[in-house]
Amino acid sequence: MQYIKVTPDYAQHVALIELNRPKALNALNLELMGEVRDALKALDEEEAVRVIILTGNAKAFAAGADIKQMADKTPIDMLKIDQFSTWDQIKKTKKPLIAAVSGFALGGGCELAMTCDMIVASETAKFGQPEIKIGVMPGAGGTQRLTKAVGKAKAMEMVLTGSFISADEAKHYGLVNKVVPVEMFMHEALVLAKSIASMSPIAAQLAKEAVNRSFETHLEEGLFFERKNFYMAFASEDQKEGMHAFIEKRAPDYKGK
Ligand code: CAA
Repeated sequence: MQYIKVTPDYAQHVALIELNRPKALNALNLELMGEVRDALKALDEEEAVRVIILTGNAKAFAAGADIKQMADKTPIDMLKIDQFSTWDQIKKTKKPLIAAVSGFALGGGCELAMTCDMIVASETAKFGQPEIKIGVMPGAGGTQRLTKAVGKAKAMEMVLTGSFISADEAKHYGLVNKVVPVEMFMHEALVLAKSIASMSPIAAQLAKEAVNRSFETHLEEGLFFERKNFYMAFASEDQKEGMHAFIEKRAPDYKGK
């Protein structure tokens, strides 16, 4: 891997993917995004990994798609490159995915954080969709996911003016889960990851699918989907372990089976 670092911690069932293009503020070139897609696919298949954290560094989560790589492209180049099929694959990650964001999360960087299931932010995090300032618009989900997260008025303002919001504002609007001092953001992301990793990974996958379904469908269909996944959980050994551990007043030991 040239542009990312992958560190699985099998004992804790948590894996870390660090975007590692610091000189370009982790601008998301095609190669970097391909590496993220491949790493997520591989980690999704590793049984010992239950939760994945995606992060950058203190200064930048990612400052967006690589403008230098895109600047002279034609629509047909863009069509052939088909960069968003990579994003579609990332969206299909089955395991819970936490973005640990510090510094800039702009354009594709904000979109990548929003593609994750939860966001832990440092106090220095800045979220924005500044594509309008370079003559385009968000293309990796910004107009859709940001609007669902922060509501139409704020999303319109951010997308049409390119203005950034602070971590505290992002928390206020429901875009992020937690805001902590910069020296704590990785620690907090790990605490959250370990807490989820201590649950049944099968239940976590089924629950993640059901929550995500609520964005894709109407209530009756979503409730039907939820019910099927709830019943499916009863096919797992983890369900028996979890419920019997409760009755026997002991901690459960989930095996992901
Ligand atoms: N693409 C390519 N390179 C980038 C980049 C990007 N998105 N963002 C930063 N860089 C590079 C800069 O060109 C610079 O490289 P050089 O040293 O070689 O000149 C280096 O990173 C440091 O950047 P700055 O000197 O600009 O740092 P700064 O602290 O002065 O400013 C910033 C930081 C406000 C984030 C500024 O870099 C910036 O505005 N970046 C672009 C943000 C942006 O427009 N993102 C949207 C991209 S389009 C998109 O994402 C489309 C989509 O929906 C998929």
